[in-house]
Amino acid sequence: MKIVGIISSPNKYGNTATLVRTALKAAEEEGLKTEEIFLDKYNIKYCRGCLSCMSTGKCIISDDDFKKLYNIILNADGVILGAPNYGYSMNAIMRTFLERFGLFEFMTSNSFGGKYVAGIATSGGKKGVIKVAKSTINIAKSAMFKRGFVSGYLGVATRGEHIKNNKKSLYKAMKLGLKIALDIKGKQKYKYQNISGRFMNKILIKPMFKKVILKNKERNMKAIYENLKERGLIEA
Ligand SMILES: Cc1cc2nc3c(=O)[nH]c(=O)nc-3n(C[C@H](O)[C@H](O)[C@H](O)COP(=O)(O)O)c2cc1C
Repeated sequence: MKIVGIISSPNKYGNTATLVRTALKAAEEEGLKTEEIFLDKYNIKYCRGCLSCMSTGKCIISDDDFKKLYNIILNADGVILGAPNYGYSMNAIMRTFLERFGLFEFMTSNSFGGKYVAGIATSGGKKGVIKVAKSTINIAKSAMFKRGFVSGYLGVATRGEHIKNNKKSLYKAMKLGLKIALDIKGKQKYKYQNISGRFMNKILIKPMFKKVILKNKERNMKAIYENLKERGLIEA
């Protein structure tokens, strides 16, 4: 059982990294394997918006580090995503990384489906920090064909002081790390999580996309169809 911590701040010992590492340490103490990915160290190019992942299942960009990171995520049981708030949004490094999962992920939930996720954000002020923490885990929460499980999220306004001096926030990060670890170990199902969103998905969104995917299964949605079929998520 393994949890991957993704840090998108360029500050290796900054606020976001400190909280993600605190959460990972708590998970480790609960017996899980952990791995830290400090995104700034990797070469991750922008999504080209070519949509070829929908038909081929592959990204046209092959000369960067994304595929390597993709495989690490694919083989993990849990993911903690940590981003700083830049202009009331996740910073560009995290966005660039998440966008590379492409519409293939949006329509198949191939990487995040069934996984446990937790979001962490830090900010100077309070405004927008929770929104940023939640937005990092949206990729799992709002999955169409197979949802991920949200263990929790944490948004901390630092007010200019380094988070390492903020015992309350470190404690919350530790609790979040422990929670995701226990969720993985206990296979927590969160039956009622995002219940209204899931209801809308079930009656409206998924059937609509299913039709489109089936219609295009030999063409531009070939890889999406084959992936869903292989996982028993769409009829043959
Ligand atoms: C380009 C940039 C934009 C930022 N935008 C905001 C913002 O809109 N609101 C806010 O409260 N803090 C903002 N901040 C402050 C950071 O979110 C905050 O210092 C954060 O904890 C930095 O995380 P780090 O130490 O992990 O790098 C911004 C910082 C930078 C560098």
